[in-house]
Amino acid sequence: MARAQLNLADHLVRLESETDFAGWRDAARQLATNDIPPEDAAWQVDPGADQGGSGLPDCPPGVRLAVPREFVERAETIICHCDPERFGFLYRLLWRLRSEPKLLSIASDPDIRRLEAMEKAVGRDIHKMQAFVRFRKIGEGADERYVAWFEPEHFIVERNADFFVRRFTGMRWTILTPHASADWDGERLAIGPGASKRDAPAEDDTEALWRTYFENIFNPARLKVKAMQKEMPKKYWRNLPEASLIPGLIAGADRATSAMIARMPTTPAPHHAKVQAKHWPKPDDGDETETADTIPELRNLAKGCHRCRLWRDATQTVFGEGPENADVIFVGEQPGDQEDLAGKPFVGPAGKVFDGILEEAEIDRRKVYVTNAVKHFKFEPRGKRRIHSKPNAGEIQTCRWWLDKELDLIKPKLVVALGATAAQSLLGKAVPITRMRGDVVERDDGLRVFLTIHPSFILRIREQEEKEAERERFLQDMRKVKQLMAA
Ligand code: URA
Repeated sequence: MARAQLNLADHLVRLESETDFAGWRDAARQLATNDIPPEDAAWQVDPGADQGGSGLPDCPPGVRLAVPREFVERAETIICHCDPERFGFLYRLLWRLRSEPKLLSIASDPDIRRLEAMEKAVGRDIHKMQAFVRFRKIGEGADERYVAWFEPEHFIVERNADFFVRRFTGMRWTILTPHASADWDGERLAIGPGASKRDAPAEDDTEALWRTYFENIFNPARLKVKAMQKEMPKKYWRNLPEASLIPGLIAGADRATSAMIARMPTTPAPHHAKVQAKHWPKPDDGDETETADTIPELRNLAKGCHRCRLWRDATQTVFGEGPENADVIFVGEQPGDQEDLAGKPFVGPAGKVFDGILEEAEIDRRKVYVTNAVKHFKFEPRGKRRIHSKPNAGEIQTCRWWLDKELDLIKPKLVVALGATAAQSLLGKAVPITRMRGDVVERDDGLRVFLTIHPSFILRIREQEEKEAERERFLQDMRKVKQLMAA
């Protein structure tokens, strides 16, 4: 751990590294207990600094610096920001906290606004790194390992390394960035110096896989260029194999959308007018800090959901999607690997089966709401792959909080439980799906729940004839749903 050095003449603090939090904390404590105001201290990152003793006397005996735990935690995040002024800024906050203990809760204070903006920027960068790191394989057999090049905006490699360890435990990998690198040999994590893009391997065959996946999940009818660029800012494109497709897909989106529209039924759904006139009440207040009046607000709250442990290994919360005035809600089990990366429900292989059958049943997916009983991907790492793992009863029950809120806000006429997990969440107990498939169960609150299988069940059947028969049965179920929607 680095020790900061204080130069008595100008109170210059030399920190060992850009993220030397321990060094900053020790120096800040010494400065503050010696009553040195922020304007008399300067901060510098100087990895080669001479390791002499501190330039200031230790904290005077009996003088205690009380620092709120919240400040320490927030400062640990701010230290990852790339603003060179952050060390002095944090010291100014610490200095002010001595006489303004409530400072952190004064949202209108310019320093607090700056603190929040910096926290958000670091959080966003952490999230982008989790979503956009792309490993390339080098070596074979015992020498196999994966290397990725990434250019974060802030100093987040160390912060994020644990996420990649948990996510890719079974692989040996290295993430190179301009400021630092993280290396996992299967047992030990090492943080090293920065690298250059040339140190990372060029394209491998997993790139083609990414491109195919991206092409397949790209829905031209849902294209919102601004929103897409917000989620996947252009600065990340140069290191994303799938990004080379984006300009072409955007350019061809209008034509592709027209083709999709031409394939759709031309008459509007009969419930359309009624749906337009509906008024959606506010949800129950529940926890005061977690109320939302609209689905986008709820989705936003869910982004930070830590109600169970599944958030830790998942890339992001995959919330429901669809119009807030939908007549029907389809509930699946949990996002899969591809949904976890895309942040959208049912976009992977099961989603493709689901979409195809909905289209045949003349149910317009854009007019229904699609969600999951559990909003984070649960999996077991196996090499580079993440193998789906079934959510347990506790996880289903915990995540029901979100599903109940979605139901409260949307107030659908009908809910379709796709498989046992969805049924368990919606009905509060396990039900035999194969026996009750096609039934409509009315809950105590009057909500009607249609029970059917999960579309991934069809994917898992190997025998072609059986697969087709099961697909046909699911199609019949969806036709029944269509009738119930219109009733
Ligand atoms: N399976 C689900 O249950 N939900 C998804 O979103 C994808 C696959």
